[in-house]
This record gives sequence, structure tokens and C-alpha cells, in this order.
Amino acid sequence: MDPISLKPFNSFHVEAYTSRLVHVHHEEELPGVLTAIADDPYLILGGGSNMLFVNNFPGWIVRMAIPGIQIEEDNEDFAIVSAGAGVVWHDLVQFALQHDLGGLENLSLIPGTVGAAPIQNIGAYGVEVADVFHRLRGYDCRDRQFHFFDKEGCHFGYRDSIFKRKLRTDFFITKVWFKLSKAPHALKLNYGSLNEALAKEGITHPTIRQVSEMVGKVRVSKLPDPSQIGNAGSFFKNPELPREAAVELLAHHPNLPNWPMPSGQIKVSAAWMIEQAGWKGKVVGNTGTYQHHALVLVNHGNATGNEIWEHAQRIIGSVEHQFGVRLEPEVNVIR
Ligand code: FAD
Ligand code: EPU
Repeated sequence: MDPISLKPFNSFHVEAYTSRLVHVHHEEELPGVLTAIADDPYLILGGGSNMLFVNNFPGWIVRMAIPGIQIEEDNEDFAIVSAGAGVVWHDLVQFALQHDLGGLENLSLIPGTVGAAPIQNIGAYGVEVADVFHRLRGYDCRDRQFHFFDKEGCHFGYRDSIFKRKLRTDFFITKVWFKLSKAPHALKLNYGSLNEALAKEGITHPTIRQVSEMVGKVRVSKLPDPSQIGNAGSFFKNPELPREAAVELLAHHPNLPNWPMPSGQIKVSAAWMIEQAGWKGKVVGNTGTYQHHALVLVNHGNATGNEIWEHAQRIIGSVEHQFGVRLEPEVNVIR
């Protein structure tokens, strides 16, 4: 069997090969796919925008391509909207804007698919998917049954959910339901750079469409477009530190941006530490960090997954040496 290139299927645009690639367009195909896979290794793929292939993948890539967006319930205050796992995330955001439904506008332009959104509880500009999540359905390959998960069952946290932990690799998300608001006062405008951008344009009472456009402007100014420069967004998570450790770190580095978390921990800015360690905009061979955002590792053209991973490890080492904080990848590193 000829090897299949995964370069078109990952936003870093690194070369890696697999022996089997199957596209799932309907959830009823999954039991048959799992039977065909038998005991071979497999990997679930959406848009490949949070993946780094360091090596070839010796097995099956199961690409979730289930389409369809629907309004399932509609009343005066809210609407329940469902979307197939393969729907492009921003297409869902645009659907919500077209129907004047609020809740997704801060999450505009996040690359990837609807099915992947609950996995790391995607978030941006003060909103996480958990804030609008209603329920999801998926197929568990252990008992070969479909199951529903409500919000509580997903154990959402910062860039975290049960699907990254207990159910990692076992659970194929096929469809997600969102509860979207019809109340204009539900806008979340507190995130620093969003707030500043709105103020700069003199917008005091924005519509959801204006919030979406402003988020788009802020994103374009900071994040590289994967169609131009290969990347996977933030490569690392912002570290969440116990309060005492954070207080001590902040005593030494008072300018380190930080955010208290509901858990009592304090989240600190990985980008700031990486920039202070001298990595922002640095080019190392075919890879490096983006000139406008230190948290984004980039492929300048012909980088291998291994080159990018080695660069990530240099950054981890240097930040740990300077700040005593160990960065953890947000990106799924496939080794
Ligand atoms: P993939 O990369 O294909 O997969 C990600 C993980 O989910 C893998 O573990 C995969 O196995 C699993 N998975 C995918 N689909 C399914 C499914 N249907 N069922 C079960 N498991 C599945 N993220 C943010 O949170 N906020 C941001 O602001 C943000 N900005 C970004 C900006 C850029 C330029 C880029 C390139 C990425 C950014 N990201 C951001 C990361 C990325 O967009 C998200 O992680 C997104 O949810 C990935 O979707 P995907 O479909 O590409 O998933
Ligand atoms: N900063 C620096 N140097 C930089 C970039 C940022 O010091 O090069 C500082 C800024 O001054 C700011 C702080 O870091 O005070 C936060 O920056 P930003 O608003 O860009 O947010 P972030 O914490 O770096 C997170 C998410 C992004 C998300 C933005 C907006 C993580 C790991 N990343 O980045 O998500 O878009 O907030 O909400 O939480 C992703 O997950 O892939 C991603 C892009």
C-alpha cells in the first residue's frame, strides 16, 4: 500500500506519512471503521490545527468529516444549535451571527472543527466553549456504543476535558449541541486586547457581529495565518501555578501577566516568559517563534516535525532555567 501524505491535513504543514486514511461522513460508519481497524493503531483527526507529527503514523488516521448545522430548539431567550463533528468551527460561528444568536462571537476564526472544540475546551478573548456547550454525542470504541455527555460530564477546565484524560483516544465525538443566547446583554467584552480594540474604534455598545469582527482584527494582528505560515496556534498552555508559587514568581517578575483562576490557582503568561527568555521572533533553521507572538511556533517552509519539537524543547529548557516553570505543550505531539 502506498504511503499517504499528511501534509495537507496538518496546519504546521510538516511532512508525515500514514498507511491508511479514512474520512467519516456519517456517525453510522464508525462501527464498521472500528471493525476494519481491529487491533491496529489509530488516530482521530479533525482539521489538524492542533497537531504536530514528529514521525510517520504507523496505522489508521480517522478524519471526522460529519457535516450539518441545525437549529434544534428555538424560544424567546435562546436557541439550541447542533453541528456535526466535521463542520468547520468558523462556519458555525458565522451561522450563529447570521441567525443573530450570541455566545460564539469571541471564538471567531479559531481554526479546526466542531468535533475537536470540546476536546481542549477551546477558548479565546474571555470565552470558552464550555460557556455555550449544551451536550455532545459520540462513539466509545471500548463498549462500541453511542453515548451522550452533558456539560458536567465533560469535566471542562482550561484547555482540558475528560476527552483529553480518561477518554483520550477512545471516544469519537460525532455531534455537538450549543445553547446560544438571544439576549444582547450577554456579551463578554472584558478581555484586555478586545476591550482596547473596541475602545480604539469608539464602539461602546457593540453588536455580536462587531465583536466578531473586532476579535478577527485582534487575531490577525497577533497570529499567523496557517495558509501562509505553518503553525498550530499557541504551542504551549499558560501554566497554572499554586497560589504560593505564583506569588513568589511575581515578586521576582512583577510585570508577568497573570490571571486568578476559579480553582484558586494563578495562570501566568507563557508568551511573556518566552519573550523575556529571548525567543520571540527568533528563526532557528526552518523553524522559530512568530515575530508578533512568542507562544506560536512556526514552520518557515521546510521544517520537519522533529525540528519543531526540538525547538519546543529548547524553549521549555530555557524558560524552566530562567523562571523555574515547566511549560507544557497545548499541541498534540504525535511521536
Ligand atoms: P485536530 O488538530 O485535528 O485534533 C486536536 C485533538 O482533538 C486531537 O487529539 C484529536 O485526536 C482530537 N479530535 C479531533 N476531532 C475529534 C473528534 N471528532 N472526536 C474525538 N477526538 C477528536 N485553540 C484555542 O483554544 N483558542 C485559540 O484561540 C486558538 N487559536 C488558534 C490559532 C491558530 C492560527 C491555530 C492554527 C490554532 C489555534 N488553536 C486555538 C488551536 C486549534 O484551533 C484548536 O485546538 C482546534 O479545536 C483544533 O481543531 P481541529 O479540528 O483542527 O483538531
Ligand atoms: N504577551 C507577551 N509576548 C507576546 C505575546 C503576548 O508578553 O509575544 C503577553 C501580552 O502582553 C498579554 C499576555 O501575554 O498581556 C496575553 O497575550 P494574548 O492575549 O495574546 O493571550 P495568550 O495568553 O498568549 C491565549 C490563548 C490563545 C487565545 C488568546 C486570546 C493559550 C495557551 N492561548 O493566548 O489561544 O487566542 O489567549 O484569548 O491559552 C491557542 O490556544 O492556540 C490560542 C491561540
